[in-house]
Formats: sequence, structure tokens, C-alpha cells
Amino acid sequence: MKFFLDTANLAQIREANDLGILDGVTTNPSLMAKEGIKGQDNVMKHYKTICEIVKGDVSAEVISTDFEGMIREGENLAALDENIVVKIPMIKDGIKAIKHLTSMGIKTNCTLVFSAGQALLAAKAGATYVSPFIGRLDDISQDGMVLIAEIAQIYAVQGFQTQILAASIRNPLHIIKSAQMGAQVATCGLDTILQLLKHPLTDSGLEKFLADHAKANA
Ligand code: E4P
Repeated sequence: MKFFLDTANLAQIREANDLGILDGVTTNPSLMAKEGIKGQDNVMKHYKTICEIVKGDVSAEVISTDFEGMIREGENLAALDENIVVKIPMIKDGIKAIKHLTSMGIKTNCTLVFSAGQALLAAKAGATYVSPFIGRLDDISQDGMVLIAEIAQIYAVQGFQTQILAASIRNPLHIIKSAQMGAQVATCGLDTILQLLKHPLTDSGLEKFLADHAKANA
């Protein structure tokens, strides 16, 4: 399973990259705004900087909602770096744009996916990645993991190549269950990845090993 960081924060991206387990980055307009990145030039520069830090796919989202606008933005974004993946919302023109960009050899990530039917359309259009938002479904009392399972089953049965990018991850269990269900990628914050490290028996076990070593070598 690949780990992507869901942030536009350069310090976090550097930290995760230094750990050696970072495979890519996903951003969205909210995450860019959170970092105070505004204005077209700054936005493009920021994406470029992210691509210089991490050697893996970097999702950059379009702002347009019409076909022509998405294509124009998508081409400009893709020209920035070979690792840019154009993130397109799951809307009618978005499907058309994914199909077009895919035919031009540009990688795409279909975002804001909340149903198996939407995921089926994204795959039909040839999206490189589909982003089901697990946490936002959980937030409205719908089990987000059920959606991952449904998509994984459909893609396996139908032989689609689109990769499942489990998004809107809120806790380590979301990552573990997504991995079990066959999602190829999990995207989340660094804090959630670091929670995978934690186990009280690891901490107490290490403490005992070090204490025994110190005693034996006193
Ligand atoms: C996915 O690519 C999105 O950027 C992200 O995972 C959304 O997560 P949120 O629901 O925590 O905003």
C-alpha cells in the first residue's frame, strides 16, 4: 500500500519524506488555503516545491467546474512536473475531463467520491485514482469502509486499473481496513500515520530490554 500525505504543509511533507515512507501527496483547495497559498503564481510555485520534495505522485486540484476550464487547468498543472496528478471533481464535466486528460496521457484523481456508482464512472473514464472519502461518510453515520469494500469488489471483478485512494482518513483503523480491503493508497495527515507506530507493549517491552541491558552492563 502506498502512503500519501494529505496536506499542503511543506514542513509535514519534509518530515514524512525523511521517514522514508512517503509515496506521494494529495492537496485540495481547502488545504492550500489553510497554508495561506493564494494567487495563481504562488499556487503553481507551491505545487512545484512539493514535487521537488517528494518523488511520487502529487495531486493538484482544478478550480474550474466546466469541461474547457478543467482541461485548461489540467494541462497547465500537468506541465509543471511529471508527477503531477490532476484532481478532478466527480461531476458530469469532470468525467468528460478525466476521459480527455487520460487520452492525453495525463494522470487524474477523481475526487469527492461517495458512492460505488460514482467510482464505477471514474474507472470507466480511465481515472488513474479514485478518491472515496471515508471520514466524511462516517461523519453522516454511513460506514465509509463499506464503500471501500464495494469499490474494491467492483474493480476486481471488472478488471479496472483505476487505483483506490482511500481519502478523508480520520484514524489508523481506516488505514488498516483500507489495506485489508485492497485500497492501493491511503492519504491522511502525518499524525494519523504516526499513530500506526503506537503500541503500549512496544513501549513497555523496550523499556524492559533497555533496563535489563543496563543492569547486565552496570
Ligand atoms: C482527498 O484527497 C482529500 O483531500 C481529503 O482526504 C479530504 O479529507 P477531509 O474530509 O479530512 O477534508
